[in-house]
Amino acid sequence: MTKKIQIINGPNLNMLGKREPEIYGSLSLDQINSDLAHNAEPLGLELAFFQSNHEGAIIDKIHENFNAKIDGVIINPGAFTHTSIAIRDALLLLTCPIVEIHLSNIYKREAFRHKSLLADIVTGQISGFGAYGYQMALNAMADMI
Ligand code: DQA
Repeated sequence: MTKKIQIINGPNLNMLGKREPEIYGSLSLDQINSDLAHNAEPLGLELAFFQSNHEGAIIDKIHENFNAKIDGVIINPGAFTHTSIAIRDALLLLTCPIVEIHLSNIYKREAFRHKSLLADIVTGQISGFGAYGYQMALNAMADMI
């Protein structure tokens, strides 16, 4: 049976490709998502994509994923990584694997990015491999579920 994976991207990630390309790379979110969709098929995974600049909308999506009994979540919460107890609390509802991903290596950057409020509640974290990190997250998910 095909497993369903939710991909969630948080604030400013809709601007990928234009936003600080020296840090986040030149691919747009649409390009990253279409590569992911292409690679998901042979892995037997069906992907749902969601991006929002709004904390509450991300929380509502996680609640929807809880109600739909999603099989896995890959999330780049953007700056909410460092601030959002509310997204952390929402993710705690889920019992499926959760991969936290960051394009940049958050531990090599400003001190305020070193703390992830999710790191201790997710299955694992990928940080610093650019867009390829999403593919790594997908492969890890395929292996886990
Ligand atoms: C990010 C890292 C965050 O610190 C930053 O606020 C982002 C993107 C990353 O993918 O490297 O928006 O999550």
